[in-house]
This record gives sequence, C-alpha cells and structure tokens, in this order.
Amino acid sequence: MAHNFDTTPEQQAGQLHFLKSQVMETKAPVLKRKDADLSGQTAIVTGGNIGVGLELGRQLLSLGVSKLILAVRNEEGGNNAAEMLLAPRKDGPQKVEVWKLDLSEYASVTAFAERVGQLDKRPDIVVLNAGVLSAKLGLNPSTGHDVDIQTNYLSTVLLLVLLLPIVKSKPSGATAVNNPVPHLSVVSSVMAHWTKFEERNTEPLLPAFDSEDPARFDMEERYSASKLLALMFLAELARRIPNSVAILNAPTPGMTRGSGFMRQSAGTVLGFVINIYYRIFGHTCDVGASQVMAAAVKAGPESHGQFIENGRQRPLPVIMYTAEGEKVTKQLWKETMQELSFAGVEQIINDLSASK
Ligand SMILES: NC(=O)c1ccc[n+]([C@@H]2O[C@H](COP(=O)([O-])OP(=O)(O)OC[C@H]3O[C@@H](n4cnc5c(N)ncnc54)[C@H](OP(=O)(O)O)[C@@H]3O)[C@@H](O)[C@H]2O)c1
Repeated sequence: MAHNFDTTPEQQAGQLHFLKSQVMETKAPVLKRKDADLSGQTAIVTGGNIGVGLELGRQLLSLGVSKLILAVRNEEGGNNAAEMLLAPRKDGPQKVEVWKLDLSEYASVTAFAERVGQLDKRPDIVVLNAGVLSAKLGLNPSTGHDVDIQTNYLSTVLLLVLLLPIVKSKPSGATAVNNPVPHLSVVSSVMAHWTKFEERNTEPLLPAFDSEDPARFDMEERYSASKLLALMFLAELARRIPNSVAILNAPTPGMTRGSGFMRQSAGTVLGFVINIYYRIFGHTCDVGASQVMAAAVKAGPESHGQFIENGRQRPLPVIMYTAEGEKVTKQLWKETMQELSFAGVEQIINDLSASK
C-alpha cells in the first residue's frame, strides 16, 4: 500500500471508526477565501438543488467562483436553489446557471457533457454529488439497471469520463495566481466500506444487480455496492489518467441530516429509527459539504484515486487491497467499458492515458 494512512482498511470499515470519525474527530473547516480563491473559475455540482449539493454551491460561491452550474433533474428546484444562492449577491458578477441533467437517461448525460464542451473555459471543479438511496427495488426503465447502480455508478462514471477531455483541452478562467489542476470529485460514502458485496463472484457482474426479485434487494447493501463500484472504477481510472490532467478523488460528506437522502424511507419504521440516529449523530448539510470541499478544492495530487473523510485521506474498502478485489475491479472495468461503449468511453480513456 503506497499510502500512509492513520488507520487500517479493516479499522476504517468498523463501526467504532465510523462513530469516532462522525462524532469525535475534527472536521475539515469551512474554507475561507484566504484558503482558496476561486475567482475566475467555473464549478459544476450535480444534484445542486438540495442537501449537500446546495451547500456545496453556497460554499463555492463564497470562495469566489465566477460561474456555478447546478446540474439538476428538477429544473424548478434548481431555479429556486439558484435564486436562493444568488439572493445575497444580487448585483455581483457571479453567475449561477441551472442545467438539466437526469442521470437515469444516458442521453441526458451525453447532452449535458456536450453542453459543457461548448463552454469557453473549462470547469475547474466538478462535484459529482447527485446520488440516490432507494428504499425499494426499482429498475431503470431505459437501461434495465437497478436505480442506485444506474445513478450512483453507471451514469456518474459516464459523466466523469466525458468531462475529462474537456477539462484537459480548455483553458481555465482562473488567473495565473490561482490557476489550479482541475478537480473532479465523486461523492462517496463510508457505506462502500461496509458492504458484504455478495455479487462479487458473479460473472457477468453488473447484471447481478438487476434482478426483479425483491427478495434479492436490500436497501443498504444495494446503495453501498453502488458506492463501492464507483470507488473501484475511480481507482482504476486514476491509474490510467495522469493527475496532471485532473485530480480524481472520492470524498464522503459523513452522515448528514437535513438533506433529501432519507426521503424514500420516510414513514417506515426503519426510516423512523434511522431518523433518530441522524438527528443525534448527523452533520448539518454545511458541515457535510465542507468535508466534500476539502477534497474538491484543496486536496492535492496525492488524493488521486483516493477516499477522503473529514479532509483526511483514508483507506479504500478492504476488498480493494486484495487479489479478489483486483479481479472484480478488472471484471467491472471490462463490463463498464462495454456498457458505455456507445459513448466511446474506452477510446477517451486510452487517448488520455497515452498522453501521459
Ligand atoms: N446524507 C448522508 O448521510 C450521506 C452520507 C454519505 C454520502 N452521501 C452522498 O452525498 C450525496 C448528496 O446526498 P444528500 O444527502 O445531499 O441527498 P439529497 O438531498 O437527496 O441529494 C441528492 C441529489 O441527487 C439528485 N439526484 C438523484 N437522482 C438523480 C438523477 N437520476 N439525476 C439527477 N440527479 C439526481 C437529487 O435530485 P432530486 O432533488 O431531483 O431528487 C438531489 O439533488 C449523495 O451522493 C449521497 O449518496 C450522503
């Protein structure tokens, strides 16, 4: 293991570590303009209409981004969010734009990326924050994939890859003083470290999540697996894409209350119990967003392909350090390349990795 973590992968996956990191550990502070001046820069936040994403938008604006793009599926919610964010800076020069992005449709993802490609300046900060925790089994009507796997993994990594050549080829709007390496952060969760991941030996792997049998669905397991797949993909992508093109990392906001994250389990007994737990131990959305900002704005090239918690680089899930994990990641990579072949994803990665 090349990294010098302050905990082991096994400890990282334990409940004791979770409680310590959630409750006792010092959190990454809200960044101030003196820590990071983002003037001139463009930032994109997916799922920026609510919850952690909305707070990310607020914090990015307070650091001076010139243009903030809220990528949302619900444009009315996005417009309300934009209005709220702009209210304290009404006649200022900062822009907030609301762009349609529905991760349940590949066509929406590719159209969004094409639109980003038409910008004069590259996005310097991209936070792939949109995500879902489905309480019930659901298959995406357009692809047949499980909703969590589609949203949190497949469509998210499609967008991630499609944005890479754009951030590589376009100039930054930042001044020479604050000219950064682009950061693309995929919002993760410590639940990726907890999954039993019983599908791990199934070949092919991705269809194993698409069963219509409700008995094979477990809400926490499915969500956790979707976040694990994203970490596996990100780590593999980071091996191929130089961190001079973009820093790719995976921060967790920590357990965060006051967002829409638990909305699907509202009204259920499990939802009631979890809600109490969240009220006692959960961060507010601004604290959750600051943990993500530490990775999306401040983390350096050493964070490439890594998991970030409370501003600290922390171990990836245990399986990712094993031979079994390596095999599963290879399989996942192969199947993901096939799934996303319609968008030329493999070629994009090969071209960028050849430019090392
Ligand atoms: N809250 C926590 O405790 C916690 C802990 C660890 C990690 N996370 C992660 O943090 C991120 C933000 O979560 P949050 O707590 O802020 O939850 P949230 O308030 O529910 O926000 C999720 C965002 O994702 C968007 N989204 C969901 N499906 C989408 C789709 N198909 N296309 C486009 N956008 C879609 C939602 O849009 P709509 O408003 O239109 O539904 C919303 O904007 C997620 O990735 C989540 O997995 C959260």
